[in-house]
Amino acid sequence: MAQILDGKALSNKIIENIREKTLLLDKKPGLGVILVGENPASKVYVKNKEKQALNAGFNSAVYKLPENTSKDDLLKLIDELNNDEGTNGILLQLPLPKHLNPYDFLDKINPKKDVDGFHPVNAGKLMLNEKPYAVPCTPKGIITLLDEYNIKLEGANAVIIGRSNIVGKPLSMLLLNRNATVTVVHSKTKNLSEITKNADILISATGRADMVTGNMVKKGAVVIDVGIIRDENGKLRGDVDFDSVKEIAGFITPVPGGVGPMTIAALIQNTYELSLKE
Ligand code: GUN
Repeated sequence: MAQILDGKALSNKIIENIREKTLLLDKKPGLGVILVGENPASKVYVKNKEKQALNAGFNSAVYKLPENTSKDDLLKLIDELNNDEGTNGILLQLPLPKHLNPYDFLDKINPKKDVDGFHPVNAGKLMLNEKPYAVPCTPKGIITLLDEYNIKLEGANAVIIGRSNIVGKPLSMLLLNRNATVTVVHSKTKNLSEITKNADILISATGRADMVTGNMVKKGAVVIDVGIIRDENGKLRGDVDFDSVKEIAGFITPVPGGVGPMTIAALIQNTYELSLKE
């Protein structure tokens, strides 16, 4: 049976550590989260982000805008937060309602307040391995978790399933910058399981339940599950068929309690660090 990578415990430790450091600051770090519309999963994520920001001793504000918000109104709010001294980190929760294109907005956030690291300047800096102001939270949280368990990245064969701008692409850069050999596979990839079976570290970020089964995994591999899917009974599931994979893998993240809490810990770290840079 694989060892569990306990993201919940590590996240609590990181947030507690930042809380202690925050108590010593003259000015509390400020996080501004923008939520447009009524996406139920986004509402849950935003509530968790706010709760943990408050736990860390930050000022936290959630700006809730209606589903039919215009492009101009959202740009206006971003501009206000860019100019607000108390706001160190700005997070635009994705996905946006269909009539709004996220890339009309993500490049309007001041890169020095871009707590998600989604601005083209920060994405470019990550690609160049030139210290972004912030690194995307889920990839950063995954690397922090791997480091905590002393999982060696240098020279490891890392396979990422999924090429999103939020997870797959930035994670591929972080792993490459740490000297892993990185393969990114996706929905059009041929012979998927032949590739995944070569992985020392296998990361799945597709949002499709049971996408990864035991027969796709190399014995002793590290398996990271980024999926968060609510099944028909309301139970949270991941991309990984935990029961079959845990018998083959050496390490595995649970869902819930793996990558999810690490994403929030990374958000708290990013907000704290941005507040020090101003
Ligand atoms: N939606 C899903 N993951 C994320 C994330 O890390 N940041 C933002 N802003 N939206 C998301």
